[in-house]
Amino acid sequence: MNKSCDLVINNALIATMVDENPSFIEKGSLAVAGGKIVYVGKQANCQFTAQKTINANNLWLLPGFIDCHTHLVHAGNRSNEFDLRLQGMSYEEISSQGGGIKNTVNATRNATEEELLASAIKRAKRLLEEGVTCIEIKSGYGLDLETECKMLRVAKTIEQHLPIKIVTTYLGAHAVPPEFVNEPDKYIDLVCNKVIPLVAEENLACAVDVFCESIGFSPSQCERVYIAAQQHNLRIKAHVEQLSDLKGAVLACQFGADSVDHLEYLNPADVPTIAKHQATAVIIPGAYYYLNEKQKPPISALRQHKVPIAIASDLNPGTSPIASLLTSANMASVLFGLTPYESLRGITYHAAQALNIPSKGSLAIGMDADFSLWEINHPADLIHSINYHRPVQTWVSGQYV
Ligand code: NIG
Ligand code: FE
Repeated sequence: MNKSCDLVINNALIATMVDENPSFIEKGSLAVAGGKIVYVGKQANCQFTAQKTINANNLWLLPGFIDCHTHLVHAGNRSNEFDLRLQGMSYEEISSQGGGIKNTVNATRNATEEELLASAIKRAKRLLEEGVTCIEIKSGYGLDLETECKMLRVAKTIEQHLPIKIVTTYLGAHAVPPEFVNEPDKYIDLVCNKVIPLVAEENLACAVDVFCESIGFSPSQCERVYIAAQQHNLRIKAHVEQLSDLKGAVLACQFGADSVDHLEYLNPADVPTIAKHQATAVIIPGAYYYLNEKQKPPISALRQHKVPIAIASDLNPGTSPIASLLTSANMASVLFGLTPYESLRGITYHAAQALNIPSKGSLAIGMDADFSLWEINHPADLIHSINYHRPVQTWVSGQYV
């Protein structure tokens, strides 16, 4: 006897993204009940019937994409700095002259919650339009208690306006704010003793992040942030080895980081430590591209030690103004040499690992029913081209978007 459910999609080509090597289901079916996937496999073996049955007509079904590292909530504009960089000034020089992150901090402090929300919704919509169903958003452009909380509240509020899951991260240790310019340790006191406890108590974020860099914070300052995060049951992520090798990835992994992000200057000799701690490597080809970097992350060492590689847009107003996760995935293949399938896993299965959300990022029984139908010849088409494809339909928690 057939079991009933809410939705069945038949006659689909399915890329579950579960397997490490490309494997696809032809003439497949997927069934949904209560927002979860209850069947995925050959149509011939599907024992579910639903009021709502869709014939996919041999279109491709893929999991919703996950952008696991963004700074999508922000105000202001930094195209003037883009000009300066094109004239040869480095990101570090711009930062040391009060530009860069500090520029966006000014604008974000001065923006109302409504203004921040309106601009954030526009950017999130761009991602949703290309099949992104889950976005991680960091604070880090407030650097005072009030503005950091404002950013995190705005990020969460996007969920009330768009059918998209938002995961928030407190990035207090992003830059030293003007009030603490000569005493960064006092700022870290504020981060650890005031903001982290409040963020945890009010459930404003589930993780903390740091910028471990000469223009950000030292490893020992980052370590204090990790200890405070652990005391308050917040998970850990880190911007590390983006511009230099401070051994930030190893340190973050020792504190149980879910992900270490950027990694251009990561020494291949440190990759086994990342593997041992089962952290995900989040690569950010958009920032590499915009900063015109020459040093690439050690992809072959990451592969060799089976470190999961995720890809994120890093959507931010300075180093990666890219509101397109598929473009970032294309860059991961073109610039860093990931195979198209690795890039697709980087924005699905591995991106879910980076965020420690095992119920997302693949199509399997028990997973959240977030997926899109695509009119393509092969999933690799999505990585091969830029701005060619939009999903025909997207579902989030089994609801048609
Ligand atoms: O991920 N590296 C530090 N943070 C951001 C850049 C933020 C900015 O320049 O506004 C990043 O690249
Ligand atoms: Fe970032």
